[in-house]
Amino acid sequence: MERAVMKITICCLLLALVASLPNKDDWDIYSFHINSTVTSRYAVTTITSRVVNRMDESKEIEFHVRIPKNAFISKFKMLIDGQEYDGVVKAKEQAQQQYTEAVSRGQSAGIVSSVGRTLEEFKTSVTIASHKKVTFELTYEELLKRKLGKYELQIHARPMQPVKDFKVDVYINERAGINFIEVQGGLSTKDLANAITKTHADKQASVSFYPTVDQQKTCDACGNDGLNGDLVIVYDVNRDSSLGHIKKSDGYFVHHFAPTGLPRIPKNVVFVIDQSGSMHGRKIQQTRTALIHILNDLAEDDYFGLISFDSQIFHWKRELVRATKANLEGAKVFARNIVDRGATDINAAVLQGAQMLNVHTREGSASILILLTDGDPTTGVTNLEKIQSNVKKAIAGKFPLHCLGFGFDVNFEFLEKMALQNHGMARRIYEDSDADLQLQGFYEEVATPLLTDVTMIYIGGTNVTQTNFSQYYNGSEIVVAGQITDNNIETFTPQVLAFSNNTEIVFSDTNEATESSGAVSDSHIQRVWAYLTVKQLLEKELQSSGVERENVKNEALRLSLKYSFVTPLTSMVVTKPLGETTDVLNKPKEGANPSQWQPPLQHSPPGQPGLQGIPGGYGMPGPPMALPGILFRMPTRGVGAVPHPGFGGSVGAGAVPHPGFGGSVVAGSAPDPGLGGRVGARRVGGRANSAKVLKTPNLKIIQSFDTADYDVPAFFPTFNVPVMITPPQIPLPHRFLLKTADQSPPLCLDISGIRKLLHHPNSELTVNGELDAVNNGGFRRFGIHLKNDHYIEVHPKEIITRQGHTVEIHSGQDLLTFGSATVIRRDKEIDITVGDTRLVILIHDEGGEKLLWPVLKQQPSDTNVTGVLALQPAVYEEVQQTPSAKLKINNQEIDVTRSNAVDYTVVPTVLLSCWLMPAESALQRSLNDFIVTEL
Ligand SMILES: *[C@@H]1O[C@H](CO)[C@@H](O)[C@H](O)[C@H]1NC(C)=O
Ligand SMILES: *[C@@H]1O[C@H](CO)[C@@H](O)[C@H](O)[C@H]1NC(C)=O
Ligand SMILES: *[C@@H]1O[C@H](CO)[C@@H](O)[C@H](O)[C@H]1NC(C)=O
Ligand SMILES: *[C@@H]1O[C@H](CO)[C@@H](O)[C@H](O)[C@H]1NC(C)=O
Repeated sequence: MERAVMKITICCLLLALVASLPNKDDWDIYSFHINSTVTSRYAVTTITSRVVNRMDESKEIEFHVRIPKNAFISKFKMLIDGQEYDGVVKAKEQAQQQYTEAVSRGQSAGIVSSVGRTLEEFKTSVTIASHKKVTFELTYEELLKRKLGKYELQIHARPMQPVKDFKVDVYINERAGINFIEVQGGLSTKDLANAITKTHADKQASVSFYPTVDQQKTCDACGNDGLNGDLVIVYDVNRDSSLGHIKKSDGYFVHHFAPTGLPRIPKNVVFVIDQSGSMHGRKIQQTRTALIHILNDLAEDDYFGLISFDSQIFHWKRELVRATKANLEGAKVFARNIVDRGATDINAAVLQGAQMLNVHTREGSASILILLTDGDPTTGVTNLEKIQSNVKKAIAGKFPLHCLGFGFDVNFEFLEKMALQNHGMARRIYEDSDADLQLQGFYEEVATPLLTDVTMIYIGGTNVTQTNFSQYYNGSEIVVAGQITDNNIETFTPQVLAFSNNTEIVFSDTNEATESSGAVSDSHIQRVWAYLTVKQLLEKELQSSGVERENVKNEALRLSLKYSFVTPLTSMVVTKPLGETTDVLNKPKEGANPSQWQPPLQHSPPGQPGLQGIPGGYGMPGPPMALPGILFRMPTRGVGAVPHPGFGGSVGAGAVPHPGFGGSVVAGSAPDPGLGGRVGARRVGGRANSAKVLKTPNLKIIQSFDTADYDVPAFFPTFNVPVMITPPQIPLPHRFLLKTADQSPPLCLDISGIRKLLHHPNSELTVNGELDAVNNGGFRRFGIHLKNDHYIEVHPKEIITRQGHTVEIHSGQDLLTFGSATVIRRDKEIDITVGDTRLVILIHDEGGEKLLWPVLKQQPSDTNVTGVLALQPAVYEEVQQTPSAKLKINNQEIDVTRSNAVDYTVVPTVLLSCWLMPAESALQRSLNDFIVTEL
């Protein structure tokens, strides 16, 4: 009889992520061009998007693109009605002030935030009058970094709709001659092959990509929203065993040094592998797989050591041993048996590794220490500065320490600083199905040392970037730029000293070296110098403190301003016109059910409270919402190092800076962990907008923002307002809906992190969900704990089961029974039944990215169930509409804002109108009740 009442109120919390895709009927991108020119590995790329508002009313037009993390934005402009609005780079504080002063006049904000491993997202919008056009033009610059014998230029094409006039043009000019050029990436498929044209003639090459509208809709990586993917241009230049390529112009030089034909230097390598509890599951499996591959790649004259650690240290052998077949077999057995357990004693483990290398002195070899960890030190010495100083003392500049941070729980800045202090590189290994390949890829980059103690000397040069590098690896490149004193090209003499197989080698003048630019003025050489100098100063800033740090920072700022680079220290301020002040009183709602409730619009003059709480989350009342436009700036450092063979990373190539020298090899930009605040934006068009959240390694950033409705009063002045592009800031919440049992609009609230979704004590079932860190949001994975230590982890593409030390990865669609659970995997959903509980995890496809959303299909019959999915429907009373809306819940009056949220519990998703309020007010209990620290 219980069964008769199977009408389950699935209500409660739906997780909602508000997407803000353009409405294709409203506006049309009639032209989208990406033009990239690479001259001597320095790429300047301009994205030009031309859009027309087809509506009979003003409309907010978005410009939304992704650029490589390693690049600096250097120009942004908008053309509206024959008038040009240019961005100006200002010091962050100054821009911030301008932004604050103009807070009551602004209209929309743009931001840059990280997306995935190699890209950053840039987003802004402007209101355009009916049937008018706007042209957006964004330029960014980057020095391509050579890795594993090639340069890669990544171009991300995602115009958000099929575009009639769509073009990507890439021109490459390399005086040394282009050795090979290939087009790769997700867009280089069979369907699109005839849209790609490649030319290659010695010193020049070009790639063009002109897909038709049909192709943009039907290719593998495309959909109704058009293209969404990368074009990766891969190439290398000709080189020899000489001093390399030196370009000189207008008092500046750039030197690319990557000699070939050198013998490899035998190496001594020690791997220090974290096996703490947090490595469990796939991470430890992938680490074992990677280690076994890496061991296979060691040459017989290499020596190696292997240490795994948790709160204890496990040596395979106490000393380094030669990489003979028998030794490798023994080491592989050790590697296969590394199991996760215990805490993380980084200090003791790294000191042990350093000690092993210190006692193993071998003339003419290159020593390398590699640390792999996925978490912060939790036992032994845990003070980060203390660990850094211990490690620095133990290594004493004798060999590089490379640090690999696995996943998002590591304090990457700690690892990066430790690597830089010891002349090594830091990389993040992204937790994904290819993590083992990322590990191997990194190892390959450092696997073949060709030179040690490389000293670059420039007689007649000044203000030179880093010149000492401890090792030079095959496939990498050392890049140095500087000024030529008094532009005296005659006396300028470059020279490189280095050791190869125990012999000192001097590289000096070649034909190349005398080559200076002819008639064409290569102003880009100066920019390369500025780019490299700023990158290195930012790294130096990380390692210094006090007055020195201030000086380094000031110099980096000065150069960023001078060369108009949007770096972690600067923001770009764009003055744009105030929108066409149309009062748009209706609220267009894409994808929403027309019968959906729409609260009456409130009139709230710009800059007034009444919009608070957007997109706040965390119960913080937001600042007055009017944001004066675009403020864009690079996220600050800490995350950007890119593990994938390919992009990002830094200047100076794979070479490792030499002891006693400031700069470093790993660059990359990243949002500042722990920066507070957040970005909001509002629109003039009156359309409510959305909040979307995005986390990157270690931190979470806002990817877009939330706005509320308001209309522009007639008296609103129509002068220009400054617009800024502002830093991504607080950890960004995902929007949840809390539905009601009746027809009244749902509540919505913003939360983030790992959440307890369901806890059912009687059947010993716990379901936790982790919100996505990298992609467009949603849940990234779920952890399901069952009786008898059975654990299931649900990922978009696979299901991992674990009991004790038995881990299995299931990627097929078979029915799976594991412990008390039955799991059925289908195309678009994963159906999980445990006793009387049934949970369906929906897999939404958002432009190629998978979003997971849990829906409780069958509530457990017990009443003692807790967690987000077990919440009761909301009950409230509307007490006030003006001047600001208030709801009464449990006799408590709460300020709320009208907003929108996507209901992800239905397929297809719908956009619902909701009352936004602080999470704790909506839930009527502490958020702590829903927090878990581990899946
Ligand atoms: C691309 O940019 C280069 C350099 O600014 C310019 O010379 C060229 O004409 C541009 N090409 C296209 C197709 O716009
Ligand atoms: C360096 O790499 C190139 C290919 O990238 C290879 O041909 C050469 O043999 C390598 N050199 C050594 C010493 O391994
Ligand atoms: C390295 O140097 C040693 C002598 O110092 C020599 O025997 C050996 O052949 C050299 N190796 C290479 C690859 O040149
Ligand atoms: C670079 O190395 C050379 C030779 O090893 C040394 O004389 C010089 O002082 C170093 N320069 C710096 C800035 O460390």
